[in-house]
Amino acid sequence: MALIELNNVTAGYNRDHPAIENVDLSVKKNDFMAIIGPNGGGKTTLLKVVLGLLMPFKGEVRVFGESPTHSRKKIGYVPQVIPSGTFPVSVLEVVLMGRMGSAGLFKKYTESDRNIAAQKLEKLGVAHLAGKRIDQLSGGQKQRVLIARALTGEPELLLLDEPVASVDSETQHSFYNLLSNLNSRMAIVLVTHDVGAVSSHVKSIACINKHLVSHGETISEKDVAQAYGCPFELIAHGVPHRVIGAREDRDHG
Ligand SMILES: Nc1ncnc2c1ncn2[C@@H]1O[C@H](COP(=O)(O)OP(=O)(O)O)[C@@H](O)[C@H]1O
Ligand SMILES: [Mg+2]
Repeated sequence: MALIELNNVTAGYNRDHPAIENVDLSVKKNDFMAIIGPNGGGKTTLLKVVLGLLMPFKGEVRVFGESPTHSRKKIGYVPQVIPSGTFPVSVLEVVLMGRMGSAGLFKKYTESDRNIAAQKLEKLGVAHLAGKRIDQLSGGQKQRVLIARALTGEPELLLLDEPVASVDSETQHSFYNLLSNLNSRMAIVLVTHDVGAVSSHVKSIACINKHLVSHGETISEKDVAQAYGCPFELIAHGVPHRVIGAREDRDHG
């Protein structure tokens, strides 16, 4: 059984101008998929459809074989990191929000909720930041906190929106090692506009620009140019060659 199955899905905010159109997508157990596409290409919209936050105009969506709203508890969602902005809440509180489903909106967090939150922060290597304000962290640190939060629900599928947009390449490297590690226990789908940020750790690649095209294990410059609707060189100057068209050196990171 596929974890995510989209059949001919058209969705968006205006029936006459859908954000995504006739999308077929299949994500299997253990998959690690990167979906790349330009800004406004429909990446976040696609994630909303999978999460059951947006009902499609047309087509069928199954997540864990059921309607997306039924399966939401099995999904860990990592939203896009907002680079700036004030949010005077501690890191621990942010991670605890991931337990809200179990604790209930007006119930108190239990000892066990707190233990799970602490354990996930530890796992992500950011336990020492628990008492800090979330808005005082770096992009890479924030991202780890948001992943810790997503993991508190013990998800079987992890969805990440633009996870590498605001981090340097060193952070990106350790980040992909982390995801690769998590991938031994859960399927991962990440969306990004940054072609150069797709690591060779990913197992399958798709492009989206209103329409989605799955490419399997590798992707060519032509595929990317087509998805972006402009010459490849304009959008991906300096893309690591291991990303495009090769997976041989995946083990080297
Ligand atoms: N809440 C919204 N209301 C109306 N239009 C939206 C909304 N969110 C996104 N859109 C539009 O839908 C299209 C796809 O957006 P989005 O899925 O956010 O793209 P991406 O995540 O790839 O940048 C864009 O044209 C965008 O302007
Ligand atoms: Mg987006």
